[in-house]
Amino acid sequence: MKITAVLLAAGQGTRMKSELPKVLHPLCGKPMLWHVLEALKSVTTEKSVVVVGYAAEEVKKYVGDSAECVLQEPQLGTAHAALQAESLLRGKTDYVIVTYADMPLLRSETFKQLVETQRLNTGPLSLLTVIADDPRGFGRIARKADGTVEAIVEEYVATPEQGAIKELNVGAYCFKADWLWDALHRIEKNPKKGEYYLTDIIELAVKDHLPVQAVVHDDFIETIGINTRVHLSEAEAALHMRINHEHMLNGVSMMNPASTYIEIGVKIGKDTTILPNTYLHGNTVIGERNVIGPNTIIRNTTIGNDCKILASVLEGAVLEDDVDMGPFARLRKGAHLKSHVHMGNFGEVKDSTLHEGVKMGHFSYIGNANIGARTNIGAGTITVNYDGEKKNPTEIGEDAFIGSDTMLIAPLKLGDGARTGAGAVVTKNVPEDTLVVGMPARAIRKVERKTKKQNH
Ligand code: UD1
Ligand code: CA
Repeated sequence: MKITAVLLAAGQGTRMKSELPKVLHPLCGKPMLWHVLEALKSVTTEKSVVVVGYAAEEVKKYVGDSAECVLQEPQLGTAHAALQAESLLRGKTDYVIVTYADMPLLRSETFKQLVETQRLNTGPLSLLTVIADDPRGFGRIARKADGTVEAIVEEYVATPEQGAIKELNVGAYCFKADWLWDALHRIEKNPKKGEYYLTDIIELAVKDHLPVQAVVHDDFIETIGINTRVHLSEAEAALHMRINHEHMLNGVSMMNPASTYIEIGVKIGKDTTILPNTYLHGNTVIGERNVIGPNTIIRNTTIGNDCKILASVLEGAVLEDDVDMGPFARLRKGAHLKSHVHMGNFGEVKDSTLHEGVKMGHFSYIGNANIGARTNIGAGTITVNYDGEKKNPTEIGEDAFIGSDTMLIAPLKLGDGARTGAGAVVTKNVPEDTLVVGMPARAIRKVERKTKKQNH
């Protein structure tokens, strides 16, 4: 039994008012089209087909190997779009699911239900409908006196009675493949709009006295179709809560899920707590029993267990266990903090490894450095890593003590147990267990004291 999906994605999405093709607009970190392809993966047995048109090259490039693409040029309506898949699929599949790529919240389970319904149907097609108070411009489902589906009536032609119908066309259909292609050829151009409407296919089946089945859905949220950026924000809000619920049901605590933004694909271990106004992006993996946030942004970062991250920004970093960080810390790409590292306020680390137990409490910049275990980085320490041309490395041994406001002029090596005095400007390598100091402030001259008068 072969099941293939055809996703209609050729329209411009004029109502989005965007340079970006509608189906590439992201929701929770992934383009709209990704969500639909993903939902269909476990439903279909064959590679999906994406019908592209507007900005075809851009959409094709995104799709890559994840689906086949066929071009619809010009875009003459949804039936014409579906027909473009004929040359690829005729005789090659038993069932065809046709769906619109602007319906990103539909779940796999819903598509499965649609296919199951069609398997039991003696007629050629089943469609997904939803009952809703707000019609949002969707086609209305007209039913006969006996309750069977008669037609889909698009809003602009609906009579007032039809307009009041609460059952709507979602835009997902399952067809018997051998019936579909000929039926698509029979659809006539809509005289008013000059387009070929896929929705007219229902009447063709009805005329041939073939039964049409409907799966009536009750979750309107899942059927949000995106025509404008308002719809996009509604869909994103719904998806974001869906993602958060899943994490919470898997053992993650959230004080305020509404202000916790977690993208698709982020992994979080149990008993981790995510505090409000936290954003977790991209390929981020977080272990167990961490406390993250509030006010934290994390992207493409791996975090172990039992860490505390308060009001910080982390990007492309790795944190092992029991790391304690923030508020106002910043990790950039290549920052690797091993277990029990403490990093306090206003520190920045880039392309550097801080080994076990390093402490860096306040106002430091560490770049292109390797800092040995248990070393203390005093307030205001800077690795002077850039000479205007290239980045130079700094190597500090274990149990070293870097005094406040030390400038480490790279390339530079400090041995185990090395110490620097406050304000030291270190330009030469320091052997192990050695203290370096300088440049101390020198007395220049006597100055006249100025006392400001207070006007109280
Ligand atoms: C469509 C349905 C409507 C349904 C609604 C649900 C039709 C005629 N109407 O209306 O019954 O309630 O979706 O969301 O089908 N597309 C192409 N090529 C074209 C035209 C459109 O690929 O020539 C694609 C679009 O990119 C889009 C999808 O088909 O992804 C639907 O088109 P859209 O214009 O959004 O249809 P709606 O007006 O929303
Ligand atoms: Ca639409």
